[in-house]
Amino acid sequence: MAKPKKKKSAGKKKSGAKKKKAGARKKVAPRKAAGKKKAARKKKAAPKKKTTAKKKATGKRAKAKKKRPTSSADEMAEKQRDISVSEFFAKNRHLLGFDNPSKALLTTVKEGVDNALDACEEAGVVPEIRIEIQQLAESRFRVALEDNGPGIVREQVPKIFGRLLYGSKFHRLRQSRGQQGIGISAAGMYGLLTTGKPVKILTKTGKRKQAHEFELVIDTQKNKPQVKRDVVVKWPKHHGTRVEIELEGHYRGGQHSVDNYIRQISLANPHAQITYVPPVAEEHGAEHVFPRVTKKLPAHTDEIQPHPYGIELGVLMQMFRDTESRNLASCLRNDFSRVSPRVAAEICERAGISPKRRPGEMRREEADSIYKAIKQTRIMSPPTDCIAPIGEDLILAALKAEVKADFYSAVTRRPTIYRGNPFLVEVGLAYGGEMHSDDSALLYRYANRVPLQYQQGACAITRAVSATNWKSYLVQHPKGALPVGPLLVMVHIASVWVPFTSESKDAVAQYPEIIKEFRFALQECGRKMTTYLRKQKRAAEEAKKAAYIEKYIPQVAIGLQEILSLGDRETGKLTHKLTDVLERSRKL
Ligand SMILES: Nc1ncnc2c1ncn2[C@@H]1O[C@H](COP(=O)(O)OP(=O)(O)OP(=O)(O)O)[C@@H](O)[C@H]1O
Ligand SMILES: [Mg+2]
Repeated sequence: MAKPKKKKSAGKKKSGAKKKKAGARKKVAPRKAAGKKKAARKKKAAPKKKTTAKKKATGKRAKAKKKRPTSSADEMAEKQRDISVSEFFAKNRHLLGFDNPSKALLTTVKEGVDNALDACEEAGVVPEIRIEIQQLAESRFRVALEDNGPGIVREQVPKIFGRLLYGSKFHRLRQSRGQQGIGISAAGMYGLLTTGKPVKILTKTGKRKQAHEFELVIDTQKNKPQVKRDVVVKWPKHHGTRVEIELEGHYRGGQHSVDNYIRQISLANPHAQITYVPPVAEEHGAEHVFPRVTKKLPAHTDEIQPHPYGIELGVLMQMFRDTESRNLASCLRNDFSRVSPRVAAEICERAGISPKRRPGEMRREEADSIYKAIKQTRIMSPPTDCIAPIGEDLILAALKAEVKADFYSAVTRRPTIYRGNPFLVEVGLAYGGEMHSDDSALLYRYANRVPLQYQQGACAITRAVSATNWKSYLVQHPKGALPVGPLLVMVHIASVWVPFTSESKDAVAQYPEIIKEFRFALQECGRKMTTYLRKQKRAAEEAKKAAYIEKYIPQVAIGLQEILSLGDRETGKLTHKLTDVLERSRKL
């Protein structure tokens, strides 16, 4: 009870203090005012003060009346609805690589070429790809991508091109350029959003089959295709697919250009013949052919089952629910890679669960015991024949075709795993020659043979290159940056599932296991380069010394001539002999 009293007195004190202040002001005011007029003005001003105070008070009340709009749970429920995946990506097109017109043009070409190469390799056909870019207006282009692949079954065409998240590669663990089921339909959607034009597809699946021509758009609200045209046409090609997309774009040169991408993709895919018709007006119609270096397709890669070490508990539970196997032991054997009958029995025993238990009836605790038992059991690493590297020879050939250098080296590491997924790393180095020694090293990044041109800073490859101690390989290296010198570094990661940082597939995520492999490969190449550079340095020093001695040989000969009283002929012979000895010692 004492508290309110205290408060009251405090309030009184405050008002008293205010009065005092006001009084102080009153005392000062007349001194400031020069005469009666001013005092009168002050008197007049006083009621004004009252009105502004009133206004303020009423304003406050008005403000208080203007209530912040709120929604009840019921009102919110009315607004809550499904978001279609196409709607989402139409709003977030930057996630798919369509954040600006020049990148959009590149992404469209890239998605089409990736698909063409994947389809040809899967069908065992040596790829022949045609890329045509036609400029229709200042910022409008028509991109046509044609391949000699297996073609697409008629019924599948609308779903492939008119629906996001539809494809053949997402649910399998096999090395391929595409993996998400978004690429080409997203390019079509971007074209539709920016130009209103449908995607045109021409496809044929065999010599005796009919060619079908489609025009379709994606209904973004439903993520479903709308076929505008579907006709049978004549196409002399035996099999293949041609996709045409009209889009808003920007064609430019430089590191991120379409031209650069095509050159880089042909380097990593020497089995593909690529014909490129650029949009530049004066060159229009002119074909740039990137010939194939080999007719040999990359080694066939098998699809694999997930490795138990890479499985998370939730996924394991889902797999138990979905499996066709009747008991736990056969589920472990059939649905996972490297689980032999012995390993399956060991896992079941360790978890204390009968191998005959029905997987579909497993409780969460049981799945958890299996999950823990898997971690405690020794299981062979996943098979590595599911990965096809480019290979050291072809990397060296590609580097030699790309740049004139003094030294080349390449390393293909043995496959290893991250999160249960097999992957393999390759590195190529070129040093010296026509490259500038004051520039930062050129870095070519590849994932499953596809060049990565954007988001260099966010990529695990860049991080590994920057973190390597280049100084120990006799190359300048500013801390935390790329090395500086006449150096081209090519880094490739091949995997059944490349962990990209986003759907635009521009940068590799920074998994420690992956960065470690990059660094080992870079170090291996770096060591080879150091051996070469040390040799070069030694040779240069020796040549310098020899040149120095050579300069004084005639003086030595004259000295000897005087001491030994030699004739001119003998002195000449002596000079010759001394030069000969010097030459021989240099060769040694
Ligand atoms: N030129 C083509 N020839 C044959 N099949 C194709 C061709 N282009 C696409 N496809 C099929 O259409 C599917 C969807 O292609 P899309 O590019 O949308 O996704 P993706 O290649 O599977 O994955 P990503 O989104 O990573 O590119 C592919 O999985 C493939 O089965
Ligand atoms: Mg694709």
